[in-house]
Amino acid sequence: MQIAVVGSGYVGLVAGACFADLGHDVIVVDNDQQKLAALKSGQVPIHENFLPELLQRHRGKKLTFTDDLQAAVRVSSAIFIAVGTPPTEQGEADLSFVESVARSISGAIDGYKVLVEKSTVPVYTSDWVRKIVLRNAVSPDSFDVASNPEFLREGTAVTDFLYPDRIVVGADNERCAALLREVYAPLTEGTYYQKKDAIPGPDRAQIPPPIIVTSAKSAELIKHASNAFLAMKISFINAVASICESVGANVQQVCQGIGSDNRIGSRFLNPGIGYGGSCFPKDIMAFRSVARECGYDFRLLDEVMRINEEQRARFLRKIRSALWTLRGKRIGVLGLAFKGGTDDIRESPAIMLVKSLLQEGCTVSAFDPAAQERARSEEFGDRVEFASDPYEAARDADALLILTEWEEFGCLDLNRLRGELKYPIVIDGRNLYNPQVMAEHGFTYYSVGRPAALSEGIGSSSSVPAREVQKS
Ligand code: UGA
Repeated sequence: MQIAVVGSGYVGLVAGACFADLGHDVIVVDNDQQKLAALKSGQVPIHENFLPELLQRHRGKKLTFTDDLQAAVRVSSAIFIAVGTPPTEQGEADLSFVESVARSISGAIDGYKVLVEKSTVPVYTSDWVRKIVLRNAVSPDSFDVASNPEFLREGTAVTDFLYPDRIVVGADNERCAALLREVYAPLTEGTYYQKKDAIPGPDRAQIPPPIIVTSAKSAELIKHASNAFLAMKISFINAVASICESVGANVQQVCQGIGSDNRIGSRFLNPGIGYGGSCFPKDIMAFRSVARECGYDFRLLDEVMRINEEQRARFLRKIRSALWTLRGKRIGVLGLAFKGGTDDIRESPAIMLVKSLLQEGCTVSAFDPAAQERARSEEFGDRVEFASDPYEAARDADALLILTEWEEFGCLDLNRLRGELKYPIVIDGRNLYNPQVMAEHGFTYYSVGRPAALSEGIGSSSSVPAREVQKS
């Protein structure tokens, strides 16, 4: 099928590359000339596993880039709208980009086409897109508007797209649903997975994935409600972690106990320094506004946000209680991205914590495997020292903070690390290490929701693995 994807951000670019890998002919449209030039010349603007391979495989063949929206629409049967929906000051989603794209598309509809919302949008957006197109004198039977929310996570975006838990298609009539079924047929019929060069999937992939067809409004709500539920799960476990700290319990044991109930599940139950990123914070606020507009006071979401902010403040208090005063202290920081596996620093709790430390008069030496350049150019300039590896970040520091759950931060050479630090103090916001082993390696170790471990002597070996089991 000939497909247009409008917007070459995270969702648009990944969706475009993956649609091409499913065998479709894809035109990605963007009005940012610099971005287009970079994409055309073979650059990969985001750090994402398998994306370079897919772009290399399809660029200039099944995947092209243009700024000519109308020409792309004319030749396409499905037009996926994946433009930004940034928050307004009131926390609502700003839909002006979606509206302006819908208006431009109208001028190029010359046969039956389906306009598909791929961006995360509030319920009723599909109705509005339909109205806008009709207002621009397009006949009602030459188009439909569908909602096809995307559930990919940054860092695993390509495999999430190609091996989804489910595909949700919100279509209000069968003609429209049939077209979207055809788009996803290589996945739902399993033919994609038989291809020799298919991108390999994760172990627990459900092949083929189910497709869930709903009304457009239900699909819009599924997206917001899914993100809100996941954020709620994280805030819930962070609240439980705070209680664990007060009573001396271990949140990891508690998680194991509650997460092994199939009805609850252990995924997204990792406590830490709070959720960040370009999705959860924005989507929870937008969902809150949607509810308010509909006359429902969704106070549970306020609490999810409050706990999330409190989690950062608690972590800062933990640093203070470990170091007493902060002014003049040198702090090593591991991780700046909002989570592991990405160079994205939007709404990153790590960035916010580093800002607080700078404000308190600390010197910060930071290392992140992918987000360093962004952090330098977009946030800190030369206010932060950037190290070339974790050990350099730790060098002569009064304490080391672990702020992002990069896998490589969970398997450091602990003896070497201790040798680099001025004082062997590690404050781990992601619970990557076993407290007992840290103590055995001579560290004073604080983490989230687990008792602090105090050094018990230096250099002893242990049969317990230092690294905690990696969690999803
Ligand atoms: C999230 C959702 O997981 C995706 O399903 C969704 O498609 C996407 O938003 C979106 O709406 O576009 P993403 O923002 O990439 O994906 O990142 P997550 O893996 O969900 O992590 C979000 C934040 O929660 C990170 O800061 C992470 O460190 C934190 N987190 C996650 C925890 O603190 N604990 C956990 O157990 C899981």
